[in-house]
Amino acid sequence: MELSGASAIVTGGAGGFGEATVRRLVDKGVKVVIADLHDERANALTKELGSSVQYVRTDVTDEQNVIEAINVAQEMAPLRVAVAVHGGPAAGKRLVGRNGETYPVETFRRTVEIFLVGNFTVLSRAAAVMSQNEALEDNQRGVCIGTASIAGFEGQVGQSDYSAAKGGVIGMTLTAARDLGPAGIRVMTIAPGTFHTYAYGDVPIDQLNERFAALIPNPKRMGRADEYAQLALQICENDFLNGYTIRLDGAQRF
Ligand SMILES: NC(=O)c1ccc[n+]([C@@H]2O[C@H](COP(=O)([O-])OP(=O)(O)OC[C@H]3O[C@@H](n4cnc5c(N)ncnc54)[C@H](O)[C@@H]3O)[C@@H](O)[C@H]2O)c1
Repeated sequence: MELSGASAIVTGGAGGFGEATVRRLVDKGVKVVIADLHDERANALTKELGSSVQYVRTDVTDEQNVIEAINVAQEMAPLRVAVAVHGGPAAGKRLVGRNGETYPVETFRRTVEIFLVGNFTVLSRAAAVMSQNEALEDNQRGVCIGTASIAGFEGQVGQSDYSAAKGGVIGMTLTAARDLGPAGIRVMTIAPGTFHTYAYGDVPIDQLNERFAALIPNPKRMGRADEYAQLALQICENDFLNGYTIRLDGAQRF
């Protein structure tokens, strides 16, 4: 799909994966809405990238917020790309704690709300707008990219909420691609392994690479956010990628 002259929304656009994706899209001539909650990083990125981007403070759990951010993108140029790559907290709790503590259902619900329902809200509301835009070659109108995790395939101890949400994103991918096929909109999901992003805080990268070298067959380091962005860009440009979840993990298995 031709990207120049199009617009995009990137939820979590001020995060590790999000920022790298915004940069790759802007390089291709795309106008991008950074839909995030981190004012400081989003404003810094907007200042650096200028009129190619707009920051719209957005909470993905608020449908109206998401619709407003999508509308801002559509005002900049015809919306062709939606990347749901926002983060959020997960429980990190066993179903029954070591001392018999019960798992709060509300915590599970909140994680699913952010990672699964949030992914659905972004992709479905963006697709509704894309479907009204003029078609490009081969009836193509746009592409939606969701973000899962390898924990959506093999979750670790304490990840029942996160794994369920990410498994839902994976499960939705083919159905959404089939639903949106007649409108010329593709749907793909990226399932990253372990990547160095803001989610890892201030821990020095050398220390993290050393820790993850034992877990990742090759290359023996954490993933780089731009490796996610490169794949996102390839998905945007390659019309035959549709209805599938790609693991991006250096052969890591949790
Ligand atoms: N980093 C990894 O190793 C890794 C691995 C697998 C999957 N993922 C997934 O990738 C996605 C992005 O993660 P990241 O590593 O770039 O994290 P990050 O912390 O660097 O970025 C996440 C961004 O999302 C924003 N955000 C948080 N809650 C939000 C909300 N309610 N509405 C809108 N924006 C919100 C944050 O402000 C932040 O800028 C997440 O879905 C995460 O589960 C990350």
